[in-house]
Amino acid sequence: MRIAHISDLHLCMKFKRHNILNTIKLIRHALNNGAEHLVITGDISDNANDADFVIFRDILKQFNLLRPDKATIIVGNHDIFGGPQTAEDVYKFPQKCANTDYHRKLYRFIEHFRELFENTYRPTEEVFFPFVKVLDNILLIGLNTIDHYSKLKNPFASNGHVSKTQRKLFSQLLHRPEFKDKTKVVLAHHHFYKKDASTSSSEKTLWDKIEHFTMKLRGKKKLLKLFTENNVKLVLHGHSHEMMEYTRKGITFLNAGASIDSAVEPKTATYLIDIFPNLIKTNLSSVEAHLVAEPPILSIVGVE
Ligand SMILES: [Fe+2]
Repeated sequence: MRIAHISDLHLCMKFKRHNILNTIKLIRHALNNGAEHLVITGDISDNANDADFVIFRDILKQFNLLRPDKATIIVGNHDIFGGPQTAEDVYKFPQKCANTDYHRKLYRFIEHFRELFENTYRPTEEVFFPFVKVLDNILLIGLNTIDHYSKLKNPFASNGHVSKTQRKLFSQLLHRPEFKDKTKVVLAHHHFYKKDASTSSSEKTLWDKIEHFTMKLRGKKKLLKLFTENNVKLVLHGHSHEMMEYTRKGITFLNAGASIDSAVEPKTATYLIDIFPNLIKTNLSSVEAHLVAEPPILSIVGVE
């Protein structure tokens, strides 16, 4: 089966209209190149607006992808908390995050894409993460890595965490004997590497430090242990806006965070992943993007 993995679309009718055009272009490109299933690992919207979710729902519908066997989606921090979109927003953003009803926003997100959660294995009818979806010999396991807002630990609501309960449910869901020989693929929003790992401490800029503090996934070690114990072969994620393939503990990781909203590449890109019973082949495929000049407002606070 060929899976197309894209992430961080940051759709926004008001401020990022070109992202909508680029998303349509990229999905068409993926389908023309043989993608049989589309995976989107969060930050579908830029500001958690219902109108932008409706736009993406319509895009999926147009391509006949609003079906559980054709597309799988997980939530990103922007889908719950949004992000600062103007210079003025930057100062108000922490208070906005503090006032956000996390569970209500999560439920709204799921409601917009309810069809994609059909035919999934879940802890209960009302709990949507973690979920397991069977696609032939593949198991897609969707996680919610979005941490709650905290004035000290998560001041821009962009850090990640997977609760102990969710980790326990993950193992329980995978315990079914019929899942034993399937290729296990985890979908998460946050990245599993330190963005500034290659930089020595003295070279780190204030920007690096802020970014590290506001973009990290807490409890990575516990998650990696969970993945190896459950024989996970591949992890698909986004959040950090770069395209990147890397390995951790023998598991392949793909970051498709710069599919659409890249600050450096004038291209849109998708990973095309061929999954065979004992082999996974990954291929980065890109198309020219629609370019619209915009002031780089978001980059000043390190929130992606
Ligand atoms: Fe994100």
